[in-house]
Amino acid sequence: MVFSGKKLSELELYIGTCTDLKNKIAPGVAEEQRDYIILGNNYARTLLVVDYPGSVRGNWLTKLYRFSGNMNISTHIVPIASDKMIRHLNQSIEEYEARLDQPLSPVRRKETEKKKTSAEHMLDILLAHNHKTIFLVHTYIHLQAMSLEELERLTERLQSIIWQTGLSVAPARDNMMHAFKSVLPICDITLPHYTHQNMHAAAVSSMLPFDESELFMQSGIIMGQNMHTDNVVLVDMNDKKMFPSRNMLILGTTGMGKSFFMQKHLLRQWVLEREDTRFFLIDPEREFARVVKQIGGQVIRLSNNTEHVINPFHILHDITDDDMRGSVLFLKMQRLKIFFKLIYPNMSVLESALLERALFAVYKQYDITEHTRFAGRNAKDFPTLSDLYHHIGEGYERLRDFREILRTYTEGTNAKLFNGATNVNLHNPLICFDIRDLQQDGDSQPVVMFHVLSFLWEEITRDTTTPKKLYVDEAHLLMRSEKSALFLLDVYKRIRKYEGEAIVASQQPIDFLGAAAGKAILNNSIGMLLLGLQDNDIRDLKEHDVLPLSEEEEAIIGRRKQGEGIYVAGNHRVYMRVDVTPEELRVIDPQQYAERFGSHA
Ligand SMILES: Nc1ncnc2c1ncn2[C@@H]1O[C@H](COP(=O)(O)OP(=O)(O)OP(=O)(O)O)[C@@H](O)[C@H]1O
Ligand SMILES: [Mg+2]
Repeated sequence: MVFSGKKLSELELYIGTCTDLKNKIAPGVAEEQRDYIILGNNYARTLLVVDYPGSVRGNWLTKLYRFSGNMNISTHIVPIASDKMIRHLNQSIEEYEARLDQPLSPVRRKETEKKKTSAEHMLDILLAHNHKTIFLVHTYIHLQAMSLEELERLTERLQSIIWQTGLSVAPARDNMMHAFKSVLPICDITLPHYTHQNMHAAAVSSMLPFDESELFMQSGIIMGQNMHTDNVVLVDMNDKKMFPSRNMLILGTTGMGKSFFMQKHLLRQWVLEREDTRFFLIDPEREFARVVKQIGGQVIRLSNNTEHVINPFHILHDITDDDMRGSVLFLKMQRLKIFFKLIYPNMSVLESALLERALFAVYKQYDITEHTRFAGRNAKDFPTLSDLYHHIGEGYERLRDFREILRTYTEGTNAKLFNGATNVNLHNPLICFDIRDLQQDGDSQPVVMFHVLSFLWEEITRDTTTPKKLYVDEAHLLMRSEKSALFLLDVYKRIRKYEGEAIVASQQPIDFLGAAAGKAILNNSIGMLLLGLQDNDIRDLKEHDVLPLSEEEEAIIGRRKQGEGIYVAGNHRVYMRVDVTPEELRVIDPQQYAERFGSHA
């Protein structure tokens, strides 16, 4: 605590008048022994820091601050006017010199020399830095336990940490009650002669308990709990100075908690982000539906049996990205070609060219050309897959195979998926596309996923001002095809421009490491959560050298503990446990909530 004389007297005055308060918070018994005190049911001991190491590096007290046990550290930092200090140091150095002229034991001589050197060093700093302020630092460490035995064990454990830091401590023997006062928040330094240490500003700053392994911004969203320090990991992805982009990639073996993290994060963003923020989710496993419904969002289920249709030919608006050359129709054409390539992966270059011709022709049937304005255009005024199917029935002999495949999407089993005018609207600020029913049909789920993403991308690019969050779970479905992977990369790279953020999860790193687009997605992820991974996945990560991991980090991920992993935000990394509040757990996983808290949601 830093304090001035004025503040001290104010505080003293306040405490002095609060006799009632003091009586209320005082323990029933306060009994002083030689090297401990009994306070109510507790046993306590105060240690004095009597010496500090000669030189220190930043965060040198981290180990002490991370000590797990009932311990309080009280550090008093008192600024001293530099001229007063210079006079004091001058006098001390003269005294040490006089002492060294006397006959001394070798130990005393060494100690005195050390003190003299230290005083000279301090004087040098003061004179060299234009008489900057010097601080007197006093540190007291207070331990508390339920029994004397426990207190002894705690002291012993602490001693070994203290030894590693280079500090020298001593119990305030016969002075315990007095020393205890220095630990209380009353700005009282009770044993200054034992504890005082001169320090310049840099040395004082190294004492402050800011840990480099901490990721704690002034505001933001809690990502989890730092497993090294037990503090929360608080990150503000909207801080543009710190994070040039916001996208987050979550990797982890099945069951490690990727979808769980996403749901919890969604709940927090839903509450904490700007009120006009729009949320779009692609949910291949039907894990988000319950959460989304509970907070008032809309779930759109796309399957062979539901009536929801997003027409691949539909164009939502007329806005094109400055970075992209070509008309709205031209850009749509590129995405349509990916869509049809996913339906018919063996499409040749010639077939692709013919298809493009056919696509322009069916748009023409609806009077749609490169000059058409689309805003406000009726959903029915666009061609459908049936139109394409009929159109290529004649004069497109080389598209015969493609036409057969297309038939399953117009008349066959998948006829309800894409064929018809778009009948979904995106008015709800939170929309989840549930595509789980398509899981049985391994071929169509990735197509639908791409299709939804493409539709959402049109919606996202409508304006550059409304904040948007795009959640894509099971993204490996998109990584299967190079074309859809490249599209995801494109979305990933450009979403920031539209005030958006993508949060993407996948099971295996190799989905991302195996291809150039995947690697680029990894490199464009300013946030990353690496949950437990299989050994071969960790090997893949190492081999591809995209994300260097320390041995400790590898061990953490290799342990495969649900909800535990490495969280990366920009240049910061922390070992993190995904946290959840009871209320969040109730919404996300009612069964687990009931098991933990004993009642059903
Ligand atoms: N941090 C956590 N706290 C409590 N429960 C969790 C946590 N993480 C995951 N779970 C629970 O573990 C189970 C599996 O988690 P989840 O479905 O999120 O895994 P996943 O990584 O998405 O797996 P998959 O790759 O198969 O989709 C769920 O029932 C979930 O409720
Ligand atoms: Mg999952």
